[in-house]
Amino acid sequence: MNAEKLQLTEFHKDRVIIQITDTHLMDRPEAEFVGINPEENFHAVMDDIKQQYPHVDAIVHTGDLAQAAFPETYDRYINYMKEFGVDFYHIPGNHDNLRFFPFHTPEPRPAVISIGQWRIILLNSAVSGQTDGRIQNEQLLELKKILAQLQDCFVIIACHHNPFEMRSKWLDQHKLKNADELKAVLEPFQNIKALIHGHVHQESFNEWNGIPFISTPATCVQFKPLSQEFAFDQIAPGYRCLHLKASGEFETVVHRLKNFKVTINEEISGY
Ligand SMILES: [Fe+2]
Repeated sequence: MNAEKLQLTEFHKDRVIIQITDTHLMDRPEAEFVGINPEENFHAVMDDIKQQYPHVDAIVHTGDLAQAAFPETYDRYINYMKEFGVDFYHIPGNHDNLRFFPFHTPEPRPAVISIGQWRIILLNSAVSGQTDGRIQNEQLLELKKILAQLQDCFVIIACHHNPFEMRSKWLDQHKLKNADELKAVLEPFQNIKALIHGHVHQESFNEWNGIPFISTPATCVQFKPLSQEFAFDQIAPGYRCLHLKASGEFETVVHRLKNFKVTINEEISGY
């Protein structure tokens, strides 16, 4: 195969990306949070990813990277991921500190990840001091411009907060508050293949305008689906794999850790 043909084949091949979310890391690796060690859970998830997917194009973290949101927490995460050896990207969640968060691009410009014909656009939905989410106007305007330039690509949008309600009263107070404004920006574009988000600590699937809106289990604790009051779910942490095809289609699967002992402190009534 000549070099040019080889390059083209490389460009058009299928890709694999992994979504991890809600690691809620502490400032010290041994520190606990609601009776679990977030660091251990995170590492167990990463070990599983390494085993199941030896060839990954990128890992995208959809926020709440830190529970104890100090510079040392972010430094430790970055060092771990560099050592892991796969391209990695992240957006902040409500528990992150926007002052210390290692953004890929200066705000309000969203970061755009290029993987073959696919583009992943990272949006910041976190607002300092707030649990619920909002994508600021300036960022929506930038998103509109970026989408207009990417019409030959297949696009995935990533943000932290859930644009759809999860039918869980306590959790839905904290959703993305201006989801309608985001949808108005996305609506004219036919090449948006999915929106992925975190925040809800559970797997979910919704669809709008032919676009799947999907969430992924946290690497730390899980929330009970459809619960009106705050409640943990006694199931194992996990992550999501997305197989991005050269045709513009994708397949996705959630993995949870096997043989994982859940040790959550149930007496905690919030997080
Ligand atoms: Fe979270």
